[in-house]
Amino acid sequence: MSEVILRVEHVTKKFPVSGGKFLTACDDISLDVRKGETVAVVGESGCGKTTLLKAIMNIQRPTSGKIIFHGEDITQLTGEAKRQNYRHIQMVFQDPTAAFNPKLKIRDIVCEPLLNFDLISPADVDSKARELLTQVDLPADFVDRYPHNMSGGQRQRVAIARALALEPEIIACDEATSALDVSVQDTIIKLLVKLQRDKGITYIFICHDMALVSLFSHRVAVMYLGNMMEQLDGDKLDSARHPYTQALLKAVFSTDQAKNQYIGILPGDIPSPLDIPTGCPFQNRCEHCRELCQQKKPDLSEVEPNHFVACHYPQ
Ligand SMILES: Nc1ncnc2c1ncn2[C@@H]1O[C@H](COP(=O)(O)OP(=O)(O)OP(=O)(O)O)[C@@H](O)[C@H]1O
Ligand code: SF4
Ligand SMILES: [Mg+2]
Repeated sequence: MSEVILRVEHVTKKFPVSGGKFLTACDDISLDVRKGETVAVVGESGCGKTTLLKAIMNIQRPTSGKIIFHGEDITQLTGEAKRQNYRHIQMVFQDPTAAFNPKLKIRDIVCEPLLNFDLISPADVDSKARELLTQVDLPADFVDRYPHNMSGGQRQRVAIARALALEPEIIACDEATSALDVSVQDTIIKLLVKLQRDKGITYIFICHDMALVSLFSHRVAVMYLGNMMEQLDGDKLDSARHPYTQALLKAVFSTDQAKNQYIGILPGDIPSPLDIPTGCPFQNRCEHCRELCQQKKPDLSEVEPNHFVACHYPQ
């Protein structure tokens, strides 16, 4: 097993909302990320995936907890040390168009991070941009295009090329393939897997599509209402023991066209994040709920080596 390069330790993020209340978007989340592996974080909309990623990216400080990267708590970095840390963890968004300056050509978009860190001279931008485009299997002469002259899949390749420019150790993808149709999604995943093999990149892959995640993730972390419900190896998903994970898998695999099916089709409603019940957050949707579940929140416990479940009655 490869070394842990990033460790999320008991991260909680609370947002102040109206009426003097607080919304807990992430509640005591812990997660290990190993070098050269893909960790997928899955869960329905609003469960706290992006909030967790923003803490890892160091663009939103958690209310409490630590993010340890190379032995250092990066949530405490400030100034130039914080800026330099961005070199090592890069991000790819669902909609790259929003992150690109529409007035810039692709050449300048992919090399912008290198220019920001003074790692390239303007004279070398063209050749570096061509090299980066080639790495993501785009024609080198796309350097002269603008983002709006490209397809969604091509734009996402540009976003990956830009993320690769600084040779980061970790690339965090927030629903990076969700807006693409299934066949394009497939080619982007193949590209990510190839780059991981060639360069040893570590991915944190935020996604609501359990079927997609099961295809290429080494670890899967399942979140619900700001809580970590289960963590297990990607190739052991069929041994998932949390009723929520099992429901997600059942929803995915119960139909033929499951490959890109949205997972949020469980019975019952997700409680308001402002009014989370005492006890297990999943209790009102769980067919196995008993008295203890309504009284005490289950801890995330190791039920077998490297398999963690937050449930009083793992199935
Ligand atoms: N700045 C903020 N202020 C108040 N509440 C916030 C803020 N950012 C996020 N939230 C809330 O925190 C919770 C988690 O949001 P988050 O964006 O992390 O969810 P998500 O899992 O990424 O959802 P999606 O799949 O829809 O992207 C949600 O209830 C959201 O409304
Ligand atoms: S703790 Fe209880 S309610 Fe929660 S998932 Fe487990 S069995 Fe269901
Ligand atoms: Mg999100």
